[in-house]
Amino acid sequence: MPWNSCQRRLKLLVIVAILSALVIIALSEPVLAQAPEPVGPPVALPHSSLTDPAIETRVEALLKQMTLEEKVGQLAQYSSGAPTGPSAGNADYPNMIARGEVGSLFNLDSARAANEYQRIAVEKSRLHIPLLFGLDVIHGYRTTFPVPLALASTWDPSIVEKAARIAAQESSAAGVRWVFSPMVDIVRDPRWGRIVEGAGEDPYLGSVMARAYVRGYQGKSLNDKESVAACVKHFVGYGAVEGGRDYNTAEISEHTLREIYLPPFYAAIREGSASLMSSFNALNGLPATANPFTLTQILRKEWGFPGLVVSDWTSVGELVAHGIARDKAAAAQKAMAAGVDMDMVSDSYHPHLADLVRSGKVSPARLDAAVRDVLRVKFALGLFENPFADESREIKGALPTERVEAARLAAERSFVLLKNSVAGSRPILPLTSESGTIALIGPLADDARNMLGPWSGRGRPEDVVTLKTALEQRVGADKIRFAKGGELQTASDAEIQKAIETAKQADVVLLALGEEADTQSGEAASRAYLNLPGRQEELLEKVAATGKPVVLLLFCGRPLTLPWAFEHVPAIVAAWFPGIQAGPALVRVLFGDVPPSGKLVVSWPRTIGQIPVYYNTLSTGRPAGGTDLTHPPLNSVEKYLSRYIDEQNSPQFPFGFGLPYSSLEYSQAHVDSAKLSASDNGIHATASASVKNTGSRAVEEIVQLYIRLTGTSMEEPVRKLVGFKRISLAPGESQTVSFPLGAEAFSLWDMQNKLRVEPSHVQLWISPDSSRGLPAELEIVE
Ligand code: NOJ
Repeated sequence: MPWNSCQRRLKLLVIVAILSALVIIALSEPVLAQAPEPVGPPVALPHSSLTDPAIETRVEALLKQMTLEEKVGQLAQYSSGAPTGPSAGNADYPNMIARGEVGSLFNLDSARAANEYQRIAVEKSRLHIPLLFGLDVIHGYRTTFPVPLALASTWDPSIVEKAARIAAQESSAAGVRWVFSPMVDIVRDPRWGRIVEGAGEDPYLGSVMARAYVRGYQGKSLNDKESVAACVKHFVGYGAVEGGRDYNTAEISEHTLREIYLPPFYAAIREGSASLMSSFNALNGLPATANPFTLTQILRKEWGFPGLVVSDWTSVGELVAHGIARDKAAAAQKAMAAGVDMDMVSDSYHPHLADLVRSGKVSPARLDAAVRDVLRVKFALGLFENPFADESREIKGALPTERVEAARLAAERSFVLLKNSVAGSRPILPLTSESGTIALIGPLADDARNMLGPWSGRGRPEDVVTLKTALEQRVGADKIRFAKGGELQTASDAEIQKAIETAKQADVVLLALGEEADTQSGEAASRAYLNLPGRQEELLEKVAATGKPVVLLLFCGRPLTLPWAFEHVPAIVAAWFPGIQAGPALVRVLFGDVPPSGKLVVSWPRTIGQIPVYYNTLSTGRPAGGTDLTHPPLNSVEKYLSRYIDEQNSPQFPFGFGLPYSSLEYSQAHVDSAKLSASDNGIHATASASVKNTGSRAVEEIVQLYIRLTGTSMEEPVRKLVGFKRISLAPGESQTVSFPLGAEAFSLWDMQNKLRVEPSHVQLWISPDSSRGLPAELEIVE
């Protein structure tokens, strides 16, 4: 071949090679390359041991001594004990730990079991790096509190913080120094069973609760032997799975992601959450466990998160089923590249990561960054100094009174009174000593197991005081007639008949119905029908047909669509799954020793066809009810409106709703400035209203502040919560409730996905729920 042609070919080859390299570089980080500039305020991390330079020095020193295999070992997590996901196989953990191939184990159930594994890690492995033990401690370890949806319904962060603190004390006593909580997924679809694990549909309330959990778990210092590392989850979009079907796909625009779904994660991280879990779902076409935009761009670059990112159970390996990885090696490569530090159970990092690093598919720098994230948390928890749990701290006998009382108070405040009609001369609730004989009916009236709810940690049915037991203690067994009326899913004609006969013998009926905690609520418990399972609705209708006044107690992990009940049953309480003090807490509220004070944290649909139904919706160009979208008239003469022809737009009960035993009067909100300047850094106003107890019973009220911005660059929700306060009012008492409003309340995510205050017209409501009140108005000018 002539030299010239050879040169030409060589040149061509070089050009092709350079072009292919460019294409490979471009393809390997497509999302990062396209990601927008950092947005939002940089995170001001609170004083947190995760950012302590002394810890960083120790991390670096240890990292230098580690072999490639030992580094990979720190990134592998396995479940040893009852699995909480698809079967995980039986690995030889003791030998793997001795070889330094395991960084974390979870699902153990005692300090002794943890200590046995820990001894191998710290005595037999070459570098003596302690294991980090985790567990799904979601609403308590052994002292089981109400489920998170119920805890949020208290609108009381101090209750949540206390519950998390007690959970931390009990978990750490069992060697568990890492809890997979809080779940902060925003949920607008009650078909999704995991709605029970979070704080509902609102980003503001969700953020307040997220912070409270983190404070409770992590205490003043992670290093405290009673503190545990929090793990905020599931990042991100898991609560928006299509059709409410678990593990399904989510599509969320970047704007909505930032405005609705990200704030509670950001809040938890600002509070110092030591770790975060990536979610199962694909988000906008890319599985969240392989998503560099959320896991690296937002989490690390914008928010400066210094903690540990763990995948969800087998979600790294599941990248194969998602179809974006041919095998587990490719899955490991993608998850690592996106920013997942630790592989939970899928056994993808352990066998493949060292080869991926050797072949240059995962950079040594990325590997080291992941290992640092794990070691940082282990050092911060003081595990190198105190790797073992103190077995004497584990509670062997009965639970301490102080913890039981905390569980009772939480439950009392979580119940939401949905309906309370007048029967005779007064509302049916509260019951009094004159209420007469009580028929206690229903499969959940004397059920301990279901009161614990799903994800009940190491909660025990024997710690539960059921409604029947508590009621007997309160009024005496002779005043109670009991009939189970069948099981949750089945009932015989005879059982139903017996319940009817029992109701006939009483003056008032308490009917305890609902879902089965483990199979119908929680993970992998999506429902296409939101009715009462089995023959419970038939039981309800037949008992109500006796003409006796009925109080329906709903034990459930989500709103249920029960139009007949809401129309015909005089009194209804959403009791959720209340935890170990279910009975005493309910009895105290039913008899009015304490007022009902819970408020809904999710809009309660009338029918499944309305889902998703949520209060902080955008308007449309054809709103059905003028500007008040919450009460569109069903029979409006105008046809071309955004509405159903056969159902109202409004939910059965709006977000924020909950009745008191008394009556309340809210004045119109007042705001102290008519005009504010958007360019003013210290933008500030105060909104206030007076609330009066016009009834004859003491109340605990959750006063809520909502805002709407119009004239903005992007459309803003018809209302959004920006503040709330719990107040107590004696009969006749009134109180002025004031809320300071700063930039946070007035800001919105603009077209460039930047958070800013814009010139706008502002409406402010101070109201008992998201659907009522007359607004105060003000202008924000340039
Ligand atoms: C899967 C769940 O999605 C997650 O919330 C939980 O923490 C893990 N399993 C571990 O059990």
